[in-house]
Formats: sequence, C-alpha cells, structure tokens
Amino acid sequence: MLGPMLRIPAFRRALLGWYRRHRRDLPWRRTRDPYRILVSEIMLQQTQAVTVVPYYERFLKAFPTVQALARARREKLMKLWEGLGYYARARNLHEAARRIVRDCGGRVPRDPEVFSNLPGAGPYTTAAVLSIAYGAPLAAVDGNVRRVIARLYDIGRPLASDDREVRERADRLLEDRHAGDFNQAMMELGARICVPTNPACLLCPVRPHCAAFAGGTVGRRPVTQARRARPHKRVVAAVIRKNGKILIGLRPWDQGLLGGLWEFPGGKIEPGESPETAVRREMQEEIGADVEAGPAVSTVDHVYTHLSITLSGHFCRLKRGTPKPLFHAKLRWVRPCDLARYAFPEANRKLIREMRERKLL
Ligand code: ADE
Repeated sequence: MLGPMLRIPAFRRALLGWYRRHRRDLPWRRTRDPYRILVSEIMLQQTQAVTVVPYYERFLKAFPTVQALARARREKLMKLWEGLGYYARARNLHEAARRIVRDCGGRVPRDPEVFSNLPGAGPYTTAAVLSIAYGAPLAAVDGNVRRVIARLYDIGRPLASDDREVRERADRLLEDRHAGDFNQAMMELGARICVPTNPACLLCPVRPHCAAFAGGTVGRRPVTQARRARPHKRVVAAVIRKNGKILIGLRPWDQGLLGGLWEFPGGKIEPGESPETAVRREMQEEIGADVEAGPAVSTVDHVYTHLSITLSGHFCRLKRGTPKPLFHAKLRWVRPCDLARYAFPEANRKLIREMRERKLL
C-alpha cells in the first residue's frame, strides 16, 4: 500500500517541536563542551541513556577535561567503566583523548575527516558529536534512527547498519540549521516512542508522515533477520588462595573484549574435560603452576552479545611453582576486601558477589 507523502518541512517542524517540549533532561544536554559530548556519545553507543547517566557523571568528575582523561591511569579508567560493558569503548576513548591533546591542541577536532580518524569514531559517533557540539550538518544514524526510518518509509527488507537508502533518507530529512537537536530528536523518538515492540504510535508526533503506520506494518518494520543462536561456553575460574590472599590477573590491554580488566585466571572447558581438569590445565598454561582444584563452589550464568557463558569458580591450592604471568599483563595477590578496587568483567563480579553472600570469601 502506498503510504502518505512525507512532507519534509512539516516533518521537521513536528519532530523538533515535540523534542523541544518532551526531551529528557539528560546531563549531556546541559553542556556545550565538545569533550563532554564526546564522552556521552561513546557511552551511549550500545547503552541506554538511563544506564549511562551515573557512569557519565562519575567519569566526568574523575576526568573533567580531555587533558585529565589523557593522563588517566588505565586501571582507574576501567574501574569507572566497570559494568558498562563494551570495554573497547573505554580503551578507544582514552587513546582518542591522548591524540586530541597531542595532535589537536586539546580541542575536539571539528573537521569530520580528522575526527573520524580518532579510535572508536565511526560514522555515527562522528555525526553525533560534531552535530551536537558544533552544529555540523551530519545525520547520525544508529539503531534507533534506522528503525524510525524503516517505519517512516515502510522499508520491507532487512537493513544492514550501513544501508545506503537509510543513509540517504536520513541526510535528506536532516534539518541542517539545527542538526544537533534534529539528530537527538530522531534518537529520542526511537528511544521513547518508536520503540522496537509496542511502539506508542498514538503519541507519535510524526504519525501523519509514517508510511508503516498508514500501511499497518509498523510491527513488521524493520524487517529482522533470524539471529544466529548465541554459542554457549562453559568456563572455569580458579580462586587460588594463599596466606589469606587471592590471585588475580590483568588481561592484556589490547586483547579482545575484556582487555584491561582483572579476572580470576581460568578459561574454557574443552570437550571431554571435567571442570577440575580444565582448571589444572589452564593454570599450567596461564600461570605456569600446578594447582589442586576443588569442586565448583559457585556457578553463574552470563549473557554477552555474541555468546553466553556458564562460569564456575573453584577454590585452588598451589602445589608447585610460582605463578607467572604467561598470559596476563600482571598477576597480583590481593585481600578479599580489596577486590572491589579492581575492575572485573560482569561474570567475575557475579561470582565474587555470590561467594561473598555465601561467606566463602
Ligand atoms: N543515544 C545516543 N545519543 C544520544 C543522545 N545524545 N541523547 C539520548 N540518547 C542518545
């Protein structure tokens, strides 16, 4: 069915009018400081605004300027990011701050070419930061905006994140003179009204412009492809105790999803292995020591974007050898009461919490 004609000037007026009346009072909307806007947009990738707010405030208290962030110790940075997930964002933001100080005189670059060369600055972040901080006429397309556009234009095919039609439609819709507000209005619409399931079409300021609403296809837009099932992995963690302390290791900064975080040494259970065998093997590989591994004292489940894990924690005793950081950047013996000073991945934190609740630590 042919939808209504989307009249761009009327659409912009309706959307911006709604945004100015209903926008949430979020802390990064009270500043014009490009550094603060950069921090907010990095945190808002993959994470909802309500979750970001307390992290944003703590982070900017600790690192109020780009110079402060550039000088930050990695461990302090990761502790402030702990629980927000997608830790590559924190590592990239740190490196971006260092380059801004070193190469750009401490000012967030205005030139999209230069900005988009910063680590972690994809097309979305470049458009979001430069439009909000400097008014640059660039359309920011994230998952929310893609969904809004798929519905406005009733696009009946699956959309990749760099879909050309979506990009072109977003560019055409953009109100150049108020690009920052316009981009945030599109995001806000996607986050508050045009949500994935049960969108609030009756409250939608741009419903008269929406082809999917007219065609009754809102619930089927955007067209989604069946997700591949998440692989599941069983993982062990060794809780090695000596003289009242516990051994933890720092994952290498540049390594994978969880680089820069501390953890209990451990790893995947290979096919045919018992958890206890896996602990003994992993400890030989990771710390070069023989351990005696007890049964699981605590088991937790955790879902990441691309996999789910069951993590079991095993109390261990060192039998032979001194732990050496064969995989980790460093190893450290810490008192259980000091574990809270270190940044751990979520599944390790669940394990710590459970062991604490059961008075095992
Ligand atoms: N998501 C991404 N950027 C955002 C912003 N500036 N405000 C609210 N949600 C967002």
